[in-house]
Amino acid sequence: MKGLILSGGKGTRMRPITHTQAKQLLPVANKPILHYAVEALTKANITDIGIIISPETGDAVSECVGDGSKFGAKVTYIVQDQPLGLAHAVKTARAFLQNDPFIMYLGDNLIKDGVAPLVQQFNNSHVDALILLKEVPNPQSFGVAALDQKGNVVCLEEKPKNPKSNLALVGVYLFTAQIHKAIDEIKPSKRGELEITDAIQRLIETNYKVNSHELQGWWLDTGKKDDMLEANRVVLDEMSDTYNKGLIDENTKLTGRVVVGQNSVLKDCFVRGPAVIGDNCHLEHTYIGPFTSVGNNARVSHAEIEHSILRENCEIINFHGRIEDSLIGANVSLSRRQTRPLAYRLMLGDDSKIEVV
Ligand code: TTP
Repeated sequence: MKGLILSGGKGTRMRPITHTQAKQLLPVANKPILHYAVEALTKANITDIGIIISPETGDAVSECVGDGSKFGAKVTYIVQDQPLGLAHAVKTARAFLQNDPFIMYLGDNLIKDGVAPLVQQFNNSHVDALILLKEVPNPQSFGVAALDQKGNVVCLEEKPKNPKSNLALVGVYLFTAQIHKAIDEIKPSKRGELEITDAIQRLIETNYKVNSHELQGWWLDTGKKDDMLEANRVVLDEMSDTYNKGLIDENTKLTGRVVVGQNSVLKDCFVRGPAVIGDNCHLEHTYIGPFTSVGNNARVSHAEIEHSILRENCEIINFHGRIEDSLIGANVSLSRRQTRPLAYRLMLGDDSKIEVV
């Protein structure tokens, strides 16, 4: 079985961060989301992996994953000229996929239980598609599946006003080569995309078997800022690591599960885990609260940061205020002159500069 990870797309919902960065490369607990996707596939013994990339962010994606050898995989990059839909991405990957069965994994999704049980179910059953579903409170916002009693999918609807179930399609699908014929037979949707839900619906209508697997653990789609923070919260919440590879002075206190990376220095800081602090960071007179990830090379002084993600190379100097629920891009510089306590909620693109005076 081959793997196809989709890491193209526009990422409009994550602007301005995605003006300069592919959303799949944003860090969750200081690790790019895309790495979790590659690891999910290799853990299920899928090592022949194609990654769909866009012309704009493809180079950064291929630099981040490389040839796959660090994951024990072989990675082939496939450029999708325009983000014309998930089924269009499959069409673009046709030469890579050939007639092999494959698992398609959306590169901005995180799934707790991995995909091995799903792959096993697919291999043991003779179906043409197996889709992963999750019960959600707001099915109107998702692709929704209606099932018969055996778990076979009888109908799929994209963001229905009156959903037939509360089972949303999670971003993982398994297909036989039959899907290519179905994709050839569908037309672009109203939003101009070749929809994978339409292709699966086409399989159902032409009497091919589409089965489902209901996910019990969490699933996170990191399309928006708050989704990213939630992903960071959930992954840090489950982090079992606690280590300090840096230097901390006697006035610094670490409580709960805290990771401090190599060559990082903490002076007069209070870190309440779960939290990760990357390599080569310098933190002084600073509070780092739960569910916070601080990227490599951060310089922080006189600040309080909680429930936030800071990408690499950020400078938050003499800030005297609290930053919470924030996603801060790479190379951001934040400073403030007054010491009046305030709270900030921020989504800052790479290279931003903020001065609160
Ligand atoms: P989406 O989140 O549906 O689309 P998007 O990334 O363009 O984001 P937005 O809606 O904010 O503009 O895409 C799901 C995943 O699939 C994501 O990892 C990007 C990828 N993708 C492609 O690789 N090619 C495509 O044509 C599309 C639509 C998405």
